[in-house]
Amino acid sequence: MRVLERLDALYAIGGGPGANRLGGTPAEDEAHELAAGWMREGGLEVEVDPAGNLFGRLVGRRPELPEVWTGSHLDSVPNGGRFDGALGVVGGLEAVERLGERERTLVVIAFRDEEGCTGPGCRGSRALCSRRLEPMPAAFLELHVEQGPRLAEAGAPLGVVTGIAATARGQVVFEGREGHAGTTPMAGRDDALVAAAEFVLQLRDAAAAVDGAVATVGRLTVEPGASNVIPARVALSVDLRAPDDDRVEQVSALVPAELSRGRAVAMSPGLRSALVDELNARGLAAVELASGAGHDAGVLAAAGVPTAMLFVRSLNGGISHSPDELTAPEDVELAVEVLTGALDRLASSVDD
Ligand code: GLV
Ligand code: MN
Ligand code: MN
Repeated sequence: MRVLERLDALYAIGGGPGANRLGGTPAEDEAHELAAGWMREGGLEVEVDPAGNLFGRLVGRRPELPEVWTGSHLDSVPNGGRFDGALGVVGGLEAVERLGERERTLVVIAFRDEEGCTGPGCRGSRALCSRRLEPMPAAFLELHVEQGPRLAEAGAPLGVVTGIAATARGQVVFEGREGHAGTTPMAGRDDALVAAAEFVLQLRDAAAAVDGAVATVGRLTVEPGASNVIPARVALSVDLRAPDDDRVEQVSALVPAELSRGRAVAMSPGLRSALVDELNARGLAAVELASGAGHDAGVLAAAGVPTAMLFVRSLNGGISHSPDELTAPEDVELAVEVLTGALDRLASSVDD
């Protein structure tokens, strides 16, 4: 299957063991160049906007109408999986090629630097929406792996996303006093890493106490960072998420730093029902679920673009951001069929 071969080709960029295409690196550029070549092979017109987002356009019979967009991102976390982001781009391209010319122009997009491993994330889609780099489309549909266990538990290959979780992210700094590891009595220490460790545990407990909330400290910088010096300064990352803004606020109360917030966003009811109809037409139950992960779809929806997401079942317990990320080939094919059907409805309709 061509989609899987293309996922393999993207996975090989940047060297193993997992996907290593961090946003802003030459590996992300290489992935964009590869995808641009596939777009050209498929007869799409290729364009790169000033933020580096890649667009492949299949111009419609009525190019004056607002376009219909699909796509996702090609960057990955360090040692990421084969499907996260990449599936939405290659699956979107597959769907658009299967459709061919429709009334509206169909566009496949690869957004830049969605993961935001060192920054706020969704750099490309945020730039596009805040600077209005392109006329906004009539609709955006993002295909993505679920990255969790719920569809597998429900025995459903596909799901329709109701909304994307609220987030709060930032950095907390703990200051202490450096000193000699061998000569400073325990009682006299002001160890920044011990304070940071206590905070990490309190944050875990605070998130566990709020239904649906999660908190992660994924990056820690310890200074001076020598095994025989008491840590004088620790900077750590905080990533909080919950299904709604209030629950993120509850956990944020514990964090002694400014956090940058992303509000929870709902998907478009009209586009959700287009996906549900496509699932029902194939005799599939329409499982609806919220997304705990962030997505470019959330940025477009927050900017007022009618947006929906189709999730594909993740196997291996739903693991993601790991080389163990897995989705079955037959689920990928089904997802491309459903995406194709939904894009067809949207791109064939001339009503605004
Ligand atoms: C992106 O994968 C995120 O939700 O962190
Ligand atoms: Mn993703
Ligand atoms: Mn991701």
